[in-house]
Amino acid sequence: MAKTGKLGRGVALVGAGVSKFGSFKDKTSRDLYVEAFLDMKASVDKGFDPRDIQTIYVGCFSGDLFESQGHLAPIVTDWVGLVPRPATRVEDACASGGVALRQGVLAIASGLYDVALVSGVEKMTNLPTERVTDTLAAASDVLYEASAGFTFPGLYAAIATAHMAKYGTKVEHFMQVGIKNHNNGALNPKGQFNRSIKDIMLARQKKCQDQGQPVPDYKSEMDFLKDAAANPVVAWPMRLFDCSPITDGAACALLVAEDIARSFTDRPLYIIGSGQASDYALHGRPDITCIKASQIASKEAYQMAGVTPKDIQLAEVHDCFTIAEIVATEDLGFFAPGVGPKAVAEGVTARDGAKPINTSGGLKSKGHPVGASGVAQAVEIFKQLRGEAGPRQVPNKNLRLGLTHNVGATGGTSVIHVYERR
Ligand code: COA
Repeated sequence: MAKTGKLGRGVALVGAGVSKFGSFKDKTSRDLYVEAFLDMKASVDKGFDPRDIQTIYVGCFSGDLFESQGHLAPIVTDWVGLVPRPATRVEDACASGGVALRQGVLAIASGLYDVALVSGVEKMTNLPTERVTDTLAAASDVLYEASAGFTFPGLYAAIATAHMAKYGTKVEHFMQVGIKNHNNGALNPKGQFNRSIKDIMLARQKKCQDQGQPVPDYKSEMDFLKDAAANPVVAWPMRLFDCSPITDGAACALLVAEDIARSFTDRPLYIIGSGQASDYALHGRPDITCIKASQIASKEAYQMAGVTPKDIQLAEVHDCFTIAEIVATEDLGFFAPGVGPKAVAEGVTARDGAKPINTSGGLKSKGHPVGASGVAQAVEIFKQLRGEAGPRQVPNKNLRLGLTHNVGATGGTSVIHVYERR
């Protein structure tokens, strides 16, 4: 049986947009979707008629439980005026958005469609945190993990402690990921937290002062993060500022066949690599310090693109918890196993470092509306490679290659894309 490892024809990314991420009591997933769609439409330099869109993929983990709304794809398709085009919901837990993107890539590469809308949406804040936690836990192996008391913070805490035991990783390394991603997120007006951890720390001190309470004597963000009152343990060693938040949000991207890309924009990006793999549930893996599906999917994407991890200049990776970013940078081959913590400590993954990771603020600071996150990652790469990321634009003027890495649950699914500006 042949597996060519090649796309049938070239696929270009010509537009990308997001809604504001956060907690919006008065909005539905439809409102958020329309907001993202209009943002995407405005990003297409030469304009286009939305009626040219021929097919729609919508990443959504659990509209059914979060919002009591299943079968969301035709509904959001209606709200952006695209009925009767085929609309498909894609569910792969937190990788739903990335897999929806891949479905669009495959649909165009197959030659069946020329123009595809790939998207994702999740409205998570209708439920209280306990019920969100239960809903998310449904993406684990419920028979063997959730039923034994595991939540997602708990599962990633297990990965974190295994990484600590094998490589000597310290809680400070996790904290450094949080500080970095909040620094980036502070520059992202669409993100959920528009504040650095330093800003949050100063606000806490001021609040204590205003209320006439003792003011904590924090010398640095690290002091703040080590204060159990400010940064409580959720599942040791993962504390509040190691977790992505509960988020409402949507993201949309427009994919077209390579040969028509320039009728949409003079500055298309090309998706030159796409890979996806699956793995056993966490409890069934011999080694939980890495995510094998990410290693396999990235290899597939690199081979398709004809690039190596060294060539990738920046990446949006799946940092649902700070440990997840460290593991991702190792699985993607940016750093050897066990070296991810050192890379963050030395600033290699900072916005002005040699390998900027999560310039958007990542899931940690920008927010993690689970079905939308994979597409929102592509939106950030679209902006960065085109030099449109504003104050968070990475200083390297010659950006050409970016990557997105989106994980479902603890790595039961991993999906990777490589983007090129020519
Ligand atoms: N990081 C930093 N601050 C956070 C935060 C996070 N992840 N989540 C909430 N906060 C802040 C809020 O802004 C609020 O601050 P304020 O008091 O200054 O206004 C405060 O913490 C309390 O917010 P609240 O919404 O009551 O928090 P919570 O205790 O209900 O939820 C978590 C906190 C960590 C349990 C929740 O965000 C969570 O479950 N995250 C993980 C989500 C997840 O598993 N996603 C899937 C990954 S695979």
